[in-house]
Amino acid sequence: METATAPRRVEHQQTDKGYVPVYTTAIVEQPWDTYTADDHATWSTLYQRQRALLEGRASKEFLHAQDEMGMSAHMIPRFDQLNEVLGAATGWTLVGVEGLLPELDFFDHLANRRFPVTWWIRRPDQIDYIAEPDMFHDLFGHVPLLMNPVFADYMAAYGRGGVKAHAIGPEALQHLTRLYWYTVEFGLINTDEGLRIYGAGIVSSKGESLYSLESAAPNRIGFDLERIMRTRYRIDTFQKTYFVIDSFEQLMEATAPDFTPIYAALEAKDHLPAGDVQDGDTVFQKGTGEGWEDGGDV
Ligand code: PHE
Ligand code: FE
Repeated sequence: METATAPRRVEHQQTDKGYVPVYTTAIVEQPWDTYTADDHATWSTLYQRQRALLEGRASKEFLHAQDEMGMSAHMIPRFDQLNEVLGAATGWTLVGVEGLLPELDFFDHLANRRFPVTWWIRRPDQIDYIAEPDMFHDLFGHVPLLMNPVFADYMAAYGRGGVKAHAIGPEALQHLTRLYWYTVEFGLINTDEGLRIYGAGIVSSKGESLYSLESAAPNRIGFDLERIMRTRYRIDTFQKTYFVIDSFEQLMEATAPDFTPIYAALEAKDHLPAGDVQDGDTVFQKGTGEGWEDGGDV
């Protein structure tokens, strides 16, 4: 199979700390003309499959925003066309990147309403799973909700909060990262029709779209800022716990206060395992834990 991707992604370099990843920071023009027929077919396959699955599972805001942006199964979207719609709606701009960025660069982009999108798409043999974010995850998963004014503001506030946490230190950053993980990547939202998905890590995954809502295994717990900041998470399995917001407004209000004293208070508290239910949790479902692996929380 031929793809346009000869991704450099993350390179490694020998240093006195061992072999460490060196992230590529450059902004790249989306090389749209170089996408092959296979690349477009991968997009189409994934787009159709996820959209069919997400009707009645993803939040209405997400599905509506995706339609409004003009994304379709037809072909890989052009970033510059999406930017016209997105810029007019909420002032966000997509910028093309090779892959993951250093934390501070990422925060700086978000704070300035620029969302970094990986320009390359996974290979056909990676349709069901790819460890690192590709264009399908970034564009299909993250970008639609940037059309929503409240969520768009949340993401920019997160970027500013990231710059601040970075200056405070690694523990603050770890606490903030968990918030991103359990909302932006793996968040659920409660609606009159039942729980719905809004997290990008879920909507871009067939397996987790089903598991997060329908499996008896994971916990589903009401959003609680400090509880989330203390909770470890999974990077190589489905989540053991999902946190449920009532609305994007709730998310915005709960995260509006200055986190500096919260970070300071959390330093004295234990980190919580990914799969435990705590006293004081609002429990939508206590998971059976079936199929969980021990260890591996980060
Ligand atoms: N209020 C947070 C702070 O002071 C910033 C933030 C907003 C972080 C929204 C995440 C989400 O650090
Ligand atoms: Fe992501």
